[in-house]
Amino acid sequence: MAPDRDEAVNAVLEPPCPEQIRREIREGLTDSPRRLPARFFYDARGARLFEEITRLDEYYLTDAEVEILGRRAARVAELVGRGVRMVEYGSGSGEKTWIVLGELEAPSAYVPVDVAREQLLSFARRVRERFPGLEVLPVAADYTRLDELPWPEAESGATLAFFPGSTVGNLEPPEAVAFLSRIADQTGRGEYLLIGADLVKNRRTLERAYNDARGVTAEFNLNILHHLNRLLGADFDPEGFRHRAIWNDERSRIEMHLVSLRDQVVALGDPDAEEVEISRGEVVVTEHSYKYEIDSFHELVRRAGYRPVEYWTDTDDRFSVHLLQSASP
Ligand SMILES: C[S@@+](CC[C@H](N)C(=O)[O-])C[C@H]1O[C@@H](n2cnc3c(N)ncnc32)[C@H](O)[C@@H]1O
Repeated sequence: MAPDRDEAVNAVLEPPCPEQIRREIREGLTDSPRRLPARFFYDARGARLFEEITRLDEYYLTDAEVEILGRRAARVAELVGRGVRMVEYGSGSGEKTWIVLGELEAPSAYVPVDVAREQLLSFARRVRERFPGLEVLPVAADYTRLDELPWPEAESGATLAFFPGSTVGNLEPPEAVAFLSRIADQTGRGEYLLIGADLVKNRRTLERAYNDARGVTAEFNLNILHHLNRLLGADFDPEGFRHRAIWNDERSRIEMHLVSLRDQVVALGDPDAEEVEISRGEVVVTEHSYKYEIDSFHELVRRAGYRPVEYWTDTDDRFSVHLLQSASP
């Protein structure tokens, strides 16, 4: 389906297509293990819950990445030069954007890309207010399926892609390689990527970060079911599932699950299609969060055609931020 254009916010808006989404959800739910695509966490409520997660004591990732960017954004600005076009994948609440944009010398444009449309558009408005001369070109779309990015009218220097939050860890490693290669294709050869990657650490810290005491992560996890009910007219019963997050040491990832609390049948909003049966104790995988060592992360980005330029960690060595450059043509 062709994207709409909302001139008021200058955004490319990709309309949801329930049939296609329903097919994708059915395919995931009937797979082994059963799974749901993590991008459906992020309706307006999911985006708000994620923001709340970033402020939790247990969720060390945001504090650590903010600390690194606060200390290193000026160095990034020096390396990428003047007049940069900054493209952010999964901009969310944009907390980290301010730190980087504020250091860049006369950036030409800011292009945030996110599926959480309302949050994206309100953030884009705030960026315009704070940087009146900057072209802000928000794109509301699934970034893994996006072919083209808008270009600013102003003449640009280098392109700096920004992919914070260790969101790269939510992709399976081969998907991460494919996605980073896609970023390199979208932004151009020889251009930059500033990316955050969470580091492997002890099980206790990792599991606490995804099982907070107040249960915000549990609500966020269950929100995927509320969102799909609204989007598809499905009838998931969020009370019929419980949140679980466990560290898989062998695969180096946190696994976020919804565990079925009883035998149940789910209709996906199409009266002619078969319902999905889920037994008590069965697991639906909603998200993996891969954690990397510096070397394993560099190996991954090299496979995507990127060269590490510099990288930094926080004072407690919990998180890493890397400036990468894609191979020149
Ligand atoms: C883990 S959050 C990170 C948010 C923010 N960048 C940060 O560092 O705190 C992931 C963000 O990416 C967006 N997102 C997740 N999957 C996406 C997809 N496939 N396409 C576009 N945006 C996506 C979510 O809406 C959310 O804002």
